Amino acid sequence: MSEVLKRTMYCGEARLSDAGRDVTANGWVQRSRRLGGIVFCDLRDKTGIVQIVFDEGVPAGVFEKAESLRGEFVVGVRGTVRERESKNAELPTGDVEILASELVVYSEAETPPIYIKDDDKVDENLRLKYRYLDLRKQKMQRNLSFRAKVCRITREYFAGEGFTEIETPVLVKPTPEGARDYLVPSRVSKGNFYALPQSPQLYKQLLMASGADRYFQIAKCFRDEDLRADRQPEFTQIDLEMSFADADEVIRVQEGFLAKLMKEAKGIDLPLPLPRMCYAEAMGRFGSDKPDTRFGIELVDVSEAVKDSEFAVFADAASAGGSVRGVCAPGGSAHYSRKELDKLAESCRAYGAKGLAWMRVADEGVAASFSKFFTEGQLAALAASFGAKPGDLILIVAGKNKTVFQTLGYLRCALAEKLGLVSAGGQRYEFLWVVDFPLFEETEDGGITAMHHPFTSPHPGDIGKLGENPLSVRALAYDIVLNGNEIGGGSIRIHDRELQRRMFVALGLSEQETQDKFGFLLEAFRYGVPPHGGLAYGLDRLVMLLLGEDSIRETIAFPKNQAAEDPVSGAPGEAGGGQLEELGLSLRA
Ligand code: AMO
Repeated sequence: MSEVLKRTMYCGEARLSDAGRDVTANGWVQRSRRLGGIVFCDLRDKTGIVQIVFDEGVPAGVFEKAESLRGEFVVGVRGTVRERESKNAELPTGDVEILASELVVYSEAETPPIYIKDDDKVDENLRLKYRYLDLRKQKMQRNLSFRAKVCRITREYFAGEGFTEIETPVLVKPTPEGARDYLVPSRVSKGNFYALPQSPQLYKQLLMASGADRYFQIAKCFRDEDLRADRQPEFTQIDLEMSFADADEVIRVQEGFLAKLMKEAKGIDLPLPLPRMCYAEAMGRFGSDKPDTRFGIELVDVSEAVKDSEFAVFADAASAGGSVRGVCAPGGSAHYSRKELDKLAESCRAYGAKGLAWMRVADEGVAASFSKFFTEGQLAALAASFGAKPGDLILIVAGKNKTVFQTLGYLRCALAEKLGLVSAGGQRYEFLWVVDFPLFEETEDGGITAMHHPFTSPHPGDIGKLGENPLSVRALAYDIVLNGNEIGGGSIRIHDRELQRRMFVALGLSEQETQDKFGFLLEAFRYGVPPHGGLAYGLDRLVMLLLGEDSIRETIAFPKNQAAEDPVSGAPGEAGGGQLEELGLSLRA
């Protein structure tokens, strides 16, 4: 066993002001090369890279050892910091090097299957399989440290506001978030299953009934849903709940948190209060309940103008209770060839749109994919309703409102990205509360389901409509949106038993179903429950956005891949050694 050299300096810390200091650093060899009678070695740890020099003046044996160094060997070096002759402006430590006097090789390394370099374009599956190597990259170390900082700020803030950090169980009854559960079989009670929590929702409400008053937790949540860049089957929430609070109070406390977070993690002063927009306005103007407000390209409803046209696609949508809406991309015409418009139409299919109508506005007049159904004057009037100018591109979608909103919500972001509007003016953080969500939404089969979850309180002004017109009832629910991403959501909960019963009736849940699913919470509420409400942030998403990353996988040490596998360990795997039998389970052949 080699002696462990006691570190006195991290590699990334060495500066000109350290010149002359005797130091000890430990780390991985980034690369090593011999030039004449000198061995240069770049030594890396989580803070950065520093150049180590072994010249012929080193004690006997050290130079030979230095010559044998290869990438990813783990070593310790003792030496003296000195100014470099040829400086490297790209490295923070580039003004100095460490002239080595002692070298310990802790472990040798085989050639790694991926390069340890930030800008290396390695296939993500390979990165995830060798995540322990991938994490050695400076960028990944930075991301992990940043995430830890966000957690630290979170704990500090909520503790300061009188919140108690309380852990809730991971083996639970299914929670009501509405995704598919991960199930865990019980050995003791054969044939029965725990669910992994989709969120701590029911337990945090129990904690309010328990008198915890203000609770928070950085909690692991599990949802067996299809993966996307901003979704993982196993993710983390900053979860919280407050007693005796209304929506304004919950929001006020969150704004304090977000301001502290932006200041301490990003050095940005967040102006408060944050803007609020009601759901109906967000959908109408942006086609999304998580609008990106960094650019315009807002939706325009032209249903009225086209409802009597001979173009059946427009007329039918308007008469069938749907709508015809569009967006105008300033200067967009030149950016989209005919072929690119076809491609764009193709990508709209994922949102249910059967087609995409377009108009190009030019000095000579308006060209449109549907021009044969309109006179020149009508086309010009239609373009004018978008405020379009020569050079602009208008895209129009007709159909059911849900499809129209979803498609245009997607299109306006795609257009803005292509036109460089998202990054215009540098990195911006636009926070926004979306409030007054509908309490229910329609299911595919025409039924209704809770948009948030069944404990979300209806808006007091709408309670009378619960029976006859449930889809028009607004909820006391709020989402916090950052740059077009939902980073958190919550609501004021129902604490009145009669109202809760009416809610279950509206949802079509029988007494039995209610008891089976939520009986324990309802029982707890029989013994005195304070009015309460709360919210949960998606920590991974929040960190992703603050880091400017495109995927939450860049913020998680060991994420799952697209197939929900952990490529490092190979999980999920088969259960062996009689485990299934012990659980009273057998697999169907
Ligand atoms: P909700 O389901 O909206 O609310 O989740 C809260 C936040 O968690 C994040 N999130 C995810 N992040 C990564 N991967 C996922 N699969 C994933 N699913 C959700 C989102 C989302 O805004 N119990 C309620 C909160 C409450 O009412 O207090 C809840 O879980 O950023």
